[in-house]
Amino acid sequence: MTLFETNGVEKSFGGLQALNGVNVSIDEGELVGLIGPNGAGKTTYFNCVTGLLESDDGTVRFNGQDVTNMDSAELAREGMVRTFQLSRTLQTMTVRENVQIAAMDHPGENALTAFRQTDEMYEVEEQITERADDLLNRFDLGHLKDTTAGKISGGDRKILEICRGLMLDPKLFLLDEPFAGVNEATVEEISKYIKNLNDEGMTFVIIEHGLRELVQLVDRLIVLHEGAVLADGDPYEVVSDEQVINVYMGKPMNLDEDTEKEASNA
Ligand SMILES: Nc1ncnc2c1ncn2[C@@H]1O[C@H](COP(=O)(O)OP(=O)(O)OP(=O)(O)O)[C@@H](O)[C@H]1O
Ligand SMILES: [Mg+2]
Repeated sequence: MTLFETNGVEKSFGGLQALNGVNVSIDEGELVGLIGPNGAGKTTYFNCVTGLLESDDGTVRFNGQDVTNMDSAELAREGMVRTFQLSRTLQTMTVRENVQIAAMDHPGENALTAFRQTDEMYEVEEQITERADDLLNRFDLGHLKDTTAGKISGGDRKILEICRGLMLDPKLFLLDEPFAGVNEATVEEISKYIKNLNDEGMTFVIIEHGLRELVQLVDRLIVLHEGAVLADGDPYEVVSDEQVINVYMGKPMNLDEDTEKEASNA
């Protein structure tokens, strides 16, 4: 079943056409990579489909309904959740608080509920805390829960961002460069978490420049170039495509090297 689909999404900033008619279709349960050169329009695409920016033209459908230019809080309630290229964690709050407050957008857990000084409020708070702790333990951040987010490593902060998104129960989880600035071991760890969540049924679109890791992780790769889709298909075929090599990678990826590496790790 198609979970997410965009047709002809366009966005310009003054004279600059950042998105030039983006057509993408994602099935439920897919794990998809979105790549392309700096400035190709990848983040702008996420911004337009998640209601952070208003697109100039085109349609976005999600989970059977037209959600074109719906606002981001509402989209999150519908199950479309994203993380940001630049970390949005609140540096002076603890890791646990960062995860707890992410749930504020969740249905029934809004500010109004908190103002109603009832038992219900404490119950909701308790549930949020329990859920936050479960997530932090699952992602091996439990031991850091009382540390302020500004003091944890960049890699842990990326995992924290993912936990914050997961508090919103995504059906479709859009990740903008989850591996950026993260060491190799943590990239493997994050990949493993993504893979597990995908096995449990969560659908992903992941923007990344870490091509080597992405090719091994995803089922499908989409290439954005100058605001439009240049290639879309099997990851290994896409990275071997001459046009993709020309506009993005510069030279072919050494896929044999990866196979050798995997063999030596086995
Ligand atoms: N808010 C904005 N105002 C003006 N121009 C913008 C804005 N956001 C993006 N752009 C421009 O739109 C184009 C696409 O940018 P975008 O950030 O979507 O690229 P990207 O593919 O995410 O690149 P990167 O891989 O470097 O993150 C770039 O030329 C960028 O400078
Ligand atoms: Mg970007």
